[in-house]
Amino acid sequence: MIRFLLIFATFMLAILGQDTIEAPVITGNEDVTYTASLSNSHSSSIHGAVTVTPGSGGVGLLFRVFFTGLPEDAGPFPYHIHVLKVPSNGSCAAAGSHLDPYHRGEDPPCNSAEPATCQLGDLSGKHELAIVAPGVDNFSAEYTDFYLSDRQESIAYIGNLSVVIHASNGTRLNCGNFELDGHLTVPSTRRSSTSVASKTGAPSPSISASTSATPTRPSVVVDSAAKKSSTLSLETFITAIMTFFLL
Ligand SMILES: *[C@@H]1O[C@H](CO)[C@@H](O)[C@H](O)[C@H]1NC(C)=O
Ligand SMILES: *[C@@H]1O[C@H](CO)[C@@H](O)[C@H](O)[C@H]1NC(C)=O
Ligand SMILES: *[C@@H]1O[C@H](CO)[C@@H](O)[C@H](O)[C@H]1NC(C)=O
Ligand SMILES: *[C@@H]1O[C@H](CO)[C@@H](O)[C@H](O)[C@H]1NC(C)=O
Repeated sequence: MIRFLLIFATFMLAILGQDTIEAPVITGNEDVTYTASLSNSHSSSIHGAVTVTPGSGGVGLLFRVFFTGLPEDAGPFPYHIHVLKVPSNGSCAAAGSHLDPYHRGEDPPCNSAEPATCQLGDLSGKHELAIVAPGVDNFSAEYTDFYLSDRQESIAYIGNLSVVIHASNGTRLNCGNFELDGHLTVPSTRRSSTSVASKTGAPSPSISASTSATPTRPSVVVDSAAKKSSTLSLETFITAIMTFFLL
């Protein structure tokens, strides 16, 4: 009986302990553009880019996402900011785990209604999975993420990280590193509010019809090694109290 109650208490705490971490809204983002282009050398059919500029008033970052060549049978496609750069051999496996400076971990999955509680790098969790309608192989989206930074001194800095797109089973399909776009800015002018000139190369996506679909969210296997329970100490504490009263 006691054992049952302890298991029950632990189970309840695992559920209740979900929202212990809230990422702060990032302000003061700089007027620069970063683009992560998916590797062309990779065997994947998937290409495209994620372009990032400051959000309105420097609050958060505006993401423009475009993927093409998405295989119809492998989606919906989660995509994330990963914490290591893709090495020159193009290995997406070497890109490490998701950007998660607050150590939230993978479980429970990101609730898009509470994006501040998600892993910082979980773009598709906070916003939308890349989904294609039948007969369409491309996906585009545009959104502001309030919890990421383009300033190097920030814990939420994305400028030297990578983007990885996964199959629905978690396999890493393609990846690419964020690079400062062109040579629009140099360190001495980054502080001033020079506007970012229109850039070349990256596609300028329009929202495709497929992004308005709201399919049921599939369960997605995530292959991060960085699993961790942020509720462990609270669990242990309450379990100890339960034990005290039950004995
Ligand atoms: C995961 O999905 C990809 C793309 O559909 C496929 O190539 C791969 O074999 C799958 N892996 C597993 C372990 O099912
Ligand atoms: C990115 O830059 C930050 C801040 O300078 C640094 O702490 C981090 O190690 C860098 N990460 C990579 C993958 O270079
Ligand atoms: C690619 O390079 C990384 C870092 O240099 C290394 O750890 C990894 O084993 C390499 N992977 C392949 C498939 O060559
Ligand atoms: C996306 O796919 C549709 C359907 O194949 C095509 O008409 C459209 O031109 C594509 N858009 C881009 C930007 O490639």
